[in-house]
This record gives sequence, C-alpha cells and structure tokens, in this order.
Amino acid sequence: MSKIYEALLRAEQEKAAQDERSQTGKQESAAVAPMRQSQEHSVAVDVVDPPPVALDSPENEASDVRLNFSRALHTANLQTWKPDLDRLPAMQSRGGKIEQFRSLRSKLTGLRHAQPLTSIYVGSGHAGEGKSFVASNLAVTLARHKTARVLLIDGDMRRGTLHKVLGCPNEVGLAEYLNGKADAGSIFQRGQVLEGGEPLPPGLSNLTFCSCGHAGDRAAELSGSPRFPELIRAISDDFDWIIVDSSPVNIVSDGVNLARACDSALLVVRGGETKFETAQRALRELKSAKLLGVVLNAVSEFAPNEGHYGYQGYESLDE
Ligand SMILES: Nc1ncnc2c1ncn2[C@@H]1O[C@H](COP(=O)(O)OP(=O)(O)OP(=O)(O)O)[C@@H](O)[C@H]1O
Ligand SMILES: [Mg+2]
Repeated sequence: MSKIYEALLRAEQEKAAQDERSQTGKQESAAVAPMRQSQEHSVAVDVVDPPPVALDSPENEASDVRLNFSRALHTANLQTWKPDLDRLPAMQSRGGKIEQFRSLRSKLTGLRHAQPLTSIYVGSGHAGEGKSFVASNLAVTLARHKTARVLLIDGDMRRGTLHKVLGCPNEVGLAEYLNGKADAGSIFQRGQVLEGGEPLPPGLSNLTFCSCGHAGDRAAELSGSPRFPELIRAISDDFDWIIVDSSPVNIVSDGVNLARACDSALLVVRGGETKFETAQRALRELKSAKLLGVVLNAVSEFAPNEGHYGYQGYESLDE
C-alpha cells in the first residue's frame, strides 16, 4: 500500500511541477520533458501492471478505478470512534467469545490457501440472528493480527447498525457511493483516537470502515448497482480481508446481490432461535453465492459430538 501511496504522491508532485513549468515558459518545459517521462514510467510500474495500455482501453479504465480507490483509502477520513464494548467482545484479550472468533479466523485463513478469499459476505435468513455481531467481531478479530488490513462494510442499507457498534459517524456511506452522490474518497473512515483521546486498541487501529449511509427506500435498487462489484474488485488488492454485513435474505433481496460480488459467504444461524426451514430457505436464497459455511451463533453449551453438521467453518460463537 505504501508503494501505491508513494506513487500517487509522486504523480501529484509531478503534475504540480508540470503545471508550474507550463506557466514559466516553453524552453523550461522542453528541458524537463525527458525526466518527466522516466518518472511517469516508474509511477506506472508501481501502480498499473505492465505492459502499458492505450488510454481508452478497458484495462486502463480498470486501473484508473483502482488508482482512485487506492488514493481514497489513503485519505480515509480520520474519526473519533466510541466503540460499544458490550457488542464487541472480540476487543477483549480473553474469553470464550474471542476464542471462538479466533478459531473462525484460523479456519478462514486455512481456507484461503485453497481458494481466493478476501471478501466475505455475512448473511442470515431473518433479523436478529447475529449478522452484525458476527461481521463486526470477525472484522475486529482479523484486524488484531498486527499486519492485517481489514475493511468492514455495512451493507445493510435498511437498518445498518455497525456505525453504532463502532461509535462513529454515518453521514456518508455505501448508499451514497452506490447512488453516485459520494465518491470513494468520502466513504472510507479510520479511527484516529477513542473518544477521550485514548489511542485505538488492537483490532481498531487496522480497521477501515464504510458505513451503510442513507438509502431511503432505494436499498433494493442500490444493492443491484454494478458499482458494488466494481468497488469490491477495485479494493480487493488493498485489503487482506473485506467483511460485508447485510440485511436478512429471506425478507429482502439486497443481501443476495451483495453476496454475489464477494469471494464467499457465511450464513449465520442463531442457536435456539433460527428454525431449520429458515436456514434452508436462506441457503436457497444464497445459491448464487459461494457459501463457505454456517456460523452457529449464541449457543450457551456445545457438546463436542454435536459440533459439526458437515459444513466447514461451523462454529459455536458463545461459551
Ligand atoms: N453471540 C452473541 N452474544 C451476545 N449478544 C449477541 C450475540 N449475537 C448477537 N447478539 C446481540 O443480539 C442482537 C441482534 O444481533 P445483530 O444485530 O447482530 O443481528 P442481525 O442479524 O444483524 O439483525 P438485523 O437483521 O436486524 O440487522 C444485538 O444486540 C447483538 O449485539
Ligand atoms: Mg444487522
């Protein structure tokens, strides 16, 4: 990432220098031209895969999109966050819940040796089954790894809650990006300090967040926008993990659209609450997504022999 940032910085300095030169006269501009060409080449090598392509080719457009997103990520708005610790047990240093999330992290890390696995959609059939709980705690657990770069996207554009969980603003988010009212530069935020000025704890300092924004009554339409898969493609190289929270798939179709754009999907079911038929229907709704496994959430006791239903990654998330 820093290579891309440096390249962007150099490109900007170059452009500023070029503007200045074009104002100070033709002779000076001609004298610096060869150096400028070689510097441009080095920027292109850092940011865009060689060989160089024609300006109006699709490959070049894709590179431009990537470049814009990379720039946006490095200028992510720095905010004061006030996380809700009750809803983020993954921020604690020990406890049953953090252990279960660590175990989920290990399983996901193991799976990515066998398949591309950067963007993970987190869904469930009904409301209240724990999608946001699992998505946010999984993102924090992944981000506790000191070199991990993690993005959490609140894809629930109807009742998104992740900005409340992290205690951060939701002025502009995914909805504004998808409806074209906001560019990539304004939708990513990073925590700077906690409210009160304390430094961010592990798990938040590596986390970038995109809140749900305000979709009004257009959530279904926006979730089908080609700008979402474009967003995921453009930023996948800038993150190790991208976790996408969503709305319930048995009730509204938004989540299915988002799931299709991700490398894989996790289905959350809530112990003692989710009915078998609900889970079955959710699996059918998500048939176009690449389902990785099912997360069994909020189980108070879990006998070892009952632990696996034949899905990979099937985990109890409670002690
Ligand atoms: N394993 C758990 N332990 C403790 N609290 C939990 C657990 N799972 C979920 N909760 C709590 O249950 C409530 C509902 O969970 P959550 O908001 O994650 O559900 P959801 O599936 O995202 O619902 P919705 O579809 O309405 O967004 C939240 O207050 C959450 O903090
Ligand atoms: Mg939710």
